[in-house]
Amino acid sequence: MTALDELNADFQSGLPGAWATLSDLGRRAIFPRGIPFQSAQAKGTRYNGTIGQVTDGAGAPVPLPSIEAALGGLDPRMSHLYSPPSGHLSLRQAWAHRQRSLSGGCEALTTTPFFLMGLSQGLSFLADLFVEPGRPVVVPRPRWGNYDQIFSFRRGGRLVSYDVFVEQRWSIDPLDRALSSLEEPSVVLLNYPHNPTGYTPDPAQARQIVERLSAHPHPLVIIVDDAYAGMIYEPSALQRSLFWELAPAIEPSRHALFKLDGATKELLFFPGRVGFLTAALDPEHPAAAALESKLAGLARSSVGSPTGPGQAAVLHALQQPTLEDEVAAAHAMLSERYQVLRQALEALDNPALHPYPFNGGVFALIGVDGVEDLDALRQYLIADHDLGLVASASPPALRIAFCSVSVEDIPELVRRLDRGVAAWLGR
Ligand SMILES: Cc1ncc(COP(=O)(O)O)c(C=O)c1O
Repeated sequence: MTALDELNADFQSGLPGAWATLSDLGRRAIFPRGIPFQSAQAKGTRYNGTIGQVTDGAGAPVPLPSIEAALGGLDPRMSHLYSPPSGHLSLRQAWAHRQRSLSGGCEALTTTPFFLMGLSQGLSFLADLFVEPGRPVVVPRPRWGNYDQIFSFRRGGRLVSYDVFVEQRWSIDPLDRALSSLEEPSVVLLNYPHNPTGYTPDPAQARQIVERLSAHPHPLVIIVDDAYAGMIYEPSALQRSLFWELAPAIEPSRHALFKLDGATKELLFFPGRVGFLTAALDPEHPAAAALESKLAGLARSSVGSPTGPGQAAVLHALQQPTLEDEVAAAHAMLSERYQVLRQALEALDNPALHPYPFNGGVFALIGVDGVEDLDALRQYLIADHDLGLVASASPPALRIAFCSVSVEDIPELVRRLDRGVAAWLGR
């Protein structure tokens, strides 16, 4: 039996549903016994000549003063030396601790979060593992456009869209119909708070999702994209991630459940490239190590080694007693913008514009009727109304990122949208 055979047997024993969905690349992925592996084994040796990084001879970095000065007070071992391919364990454990504190007391077992260079990399790794040409990937509509790039453009998956709203109201029916059309192992993506609408289901709606997914008869790899975790401004919305609702209900013999989250939006650290991939799985089960080996193999064969300064900065932040107050202050600022935007949209009286329901996140989506060329409208709004929005083709809509507009400017933004669309249609 080769090392890969053993690894795959471990993977299959703990994650049979995921095993049934694994791509050819996923089956072949394994962390190689190359330099990072050999260097980790040699850690602590008196004469350690394994890795191609400059140290003082005793394991400490020798940074150039100009770069050291720029990185300020970050832990020099993290910011100036290569990271383990799965990320620094201290950071991964600190993130796991924060995840749990936001889980509403969920006791489901989860793996130690695997470090990612942003959530995009986690989506890409999961696409590598579970998607190959023709594999159904069930995705929301509307959605973040990069899902198409990652799952379809890069990996050739067959996107099966489910509408998040039916006649401007959230409904389980489209997801139900999309799942019912599948008779083979598939991937399904959930993203709440949702980009681009900013919507999060209420607890009863979340129960419908859990019931529908857990009852699905064919293998499913369920990905919960928690990019905007915690950004909820209404008490009626589900207050914790859907991952924690799903984790106790998902049966690994059929399904596998993954959570993607990170500092990008949660800690407002957009270019830090700090994300995490966590599986609903006993961390002591050999399948957890097998999964980590496959992910580390993918990391090794793509970025080589993950960013160190980003990890050092986030670990530093997680160790500060003030961090959650800082996050709460950011949420309070966003919540104020949300309330002002909500009021302005409620007062909107334009038959061509239909705001979708929203209760969190950083976006609002406005359905646009009667405009054939939405991109031409978007460019007209820039040129003639000094207004930048994102056009979404399916359904036809404009997305407002209220996270990047001051609270004072929001009413004027909505007035310009109203006037601009009316002028465009009256041309
Ligand atoms: C829904 C969603 N998922 C994932 C990402 C990617 O996050 P990251 O920048 O950490 O790769 C984004 C970024 O906008 C997003 O909106």
